[in-house]
Amino acid sequence: MFSRRKFLSGLSALPFAMKPISAAAQSSGVLTMPPLLDATQTGRFLLTAQRGTTAFVDAGTSETWGFNQSYLGPTLRIAAGKTTGAEILNTLDEPISVHWHGLMVRGDADGGPHQTIAQGETWMPDLHITQPASTAWYHSHVHGSTARQVQNGLAGVLQIDDGQNEGRGLPNTYGVDDLTLVLQDRRFDRRGRIDYDLSMSDQMMGFLGDTMVINGQVGRTAVVPRGIVRLRLVNGSNARIYPLSLSDGREMHLIATDNGYLDRSIQLTDLTIAPGERYEVLIDLTDGSDIALVSAPNPNQMMGGMMGGGGNETSFVVLPLFVDSTLPAAKDQIPDDIGGNRPQGDVSGVPERKITLDMQMGMGMMLRRASNRFSINGEAFDMDRINFDIRSGTVERWHITADMMMHPLHLHGVSFQVLSQGGRPPAAQNTGWKDTVLVNGSTELLVHFDQDASRETPFMFHCHILEHEDGGMMGQFTVG
Ligand code: C2O
Ligand code: CU
Ligand code: CU
Repeated sequence: MFSRRKFLSGLSALPFAMKPISAAAQSSGVLTMPPLLDATQTGRFLLTAQRGTTAFVDAGTSETWGFNQSYLGPTLRIAAGKTTGAEILNTLDEPISVHWHGLMVRGDADGGPHQTIAQGETWMPDLHITQPASTAWYHSHVHGSTARQVQNGLAGVLQIDDGQNEGRGLPNTYGVDDLTLVLQDRRFDRRGRIDYDLSMSDQMMGFLGDTMVINGQVGRTAVVPRGIVRLRLVNGSNARIYPLSLSDGREMHLIATDNGYLDRSIQLTDLTIAPGERYEVLIDLTDGSDIALVSAPNPNQMMGGMMGGGGNETSFVVLPLFVDSTLPAAKDQIPDDIGGNRPQGDVSGVPERKITLDMQMGMGMMLRRASNRFSINGEAFDMDRINFDIRSGTVERWHITADMMMHPLHLHGVSFQVLSQGGRPPAAQNTGWKDTVLVNGSTELLVHFDQDASRETPFMFHCHILEHEDGGMMGQFTVG
C-alpha cells in the first residue's frame, strides 16, 4: 500500500515547492479530484458561488471562495451536441461572473465582464454545444477583480463529453486513470491564509506563489493504476507558466490541446503550459515505477531576471505519482489514432490584423492607475470601447507581438490555428486547436469567428496573466 515516506525518499533530489517549503506543506495524503457533476443526462446543473474555509497547510485555515464547495468548483461534464441549462447563484457579497473558457457559445452566454451576477442574483444561460469533446474550464471574469476572485477560488473544470472515450481507447475513469489537475501556485501567511499581497514585481509580472496547489490541495500524491494514465492539465494559476516534464525523463503522449483531440498523439518530453491553457497527456506507467510530474522555474523574466519572476527558483515537484498495482488498470496501450484533427487552414487572401501587447516598465508603470498599466494596441481596456467588429463565419490572420515578457493571449468564443511562433512553424504542442497561446515575441494565428457576439455582450481577447488582464491588457470584439 501507499506509504508516502518511503515513496518520497525516491524523489529526494526534488524540492516540493518553488522555494524550500515548511514541513507544513508536506503533510501526507492522496490527491483527490474535484467532485464530478455529470450533467450529460440531466442537461442541467446548478453552481452556487459561496464562501468557505480551506485548510491548505497545517498552519491554519484560509477564507476561500468556491462553487458548491469551499474552494474551486466541481468538474462539470456536459454533453457534446446538446444544450445544457446552467444556473449560477451568487451568494457572495460582491458581483461575480462565470465565463466558460473554451466553450464556443454566443456572446450572451459567454459570462464575460458585461454579464456580472449581483449578490443574491441568479444567471441562467443555455450552453448550446456544437464543438468537439475537450477539456475547458470556468472562472469569474469581473473587470478589475478577476485576479483576486480566481485567487480566492472562483474557478473549475468543464469537460465536453461525446461518450466516445472507449472507442478511442482512452482512460476514462474519473479520478482513477483519468485525472483532472488544476495547477495553481499560492502563497500562505504564517496562519495558513492565502496571501495575495502584490509586490511591485507581482504587479508587473503577475502573481507568482511559492507553493504548488493542485485541485486546492498542497503536498499530495496521486495514486494511480499500473497502466496508461491520462492527465487533464488545466493551468488555473494567475501568472505562472509551467515547463513540465516527468522526473525520469520519460515521454508524455499529448492527445488533446485546448479545444479537443489531435489526430494522433505527439510524444513530448517537455510540455509548457501557460495560464488559461489545457493539455491532455497519456503517460505509460505499465512498468510500475513511481515518478513525478515536475516543473522548471517560471520562464517569464524581464530585464534578465532583475525584476524578479523566478530568478532564484529551482525545478520543483508538481505532483508525485505513486503506482498502486492492486488497482485495476483499464488500458495498457497508448492508442495510435485519437480520432481528432489538426487545423490546416488556407491563409491566402485572409484579412489580417495587428495586435500588440504593451506594458510600461518600472516607475513608468507604477505612476499609472492600476487599471491602465497594460494595454493592447496602445489602449487600456475600456468596457465602452469595442476594438473590432468582425463578420460572422469569417477567418482572420492575427499577428501578435509582445515585448518585455511572454503573455498568454486568449480569445473568447473562437478556436484558432497557431500559424507561426517567432517566425517559425509552431511548436508541436501548439499544432492542435487552441484558444490560448503563449506569445513570446511574435505569434500568428488563423482565427475562426463562428459564434455571434453583440455590442452588449462582446467577446474579450486578453492576456491570461490575470494581473495584466485586470490592468488593461484586454480588448473586445463583436461578431455578427
Ligand atoms: Cu479564461 Cu477571458 O478568460
Ligand atoms: Cu475565455
Ligand atoms: Cu500579459
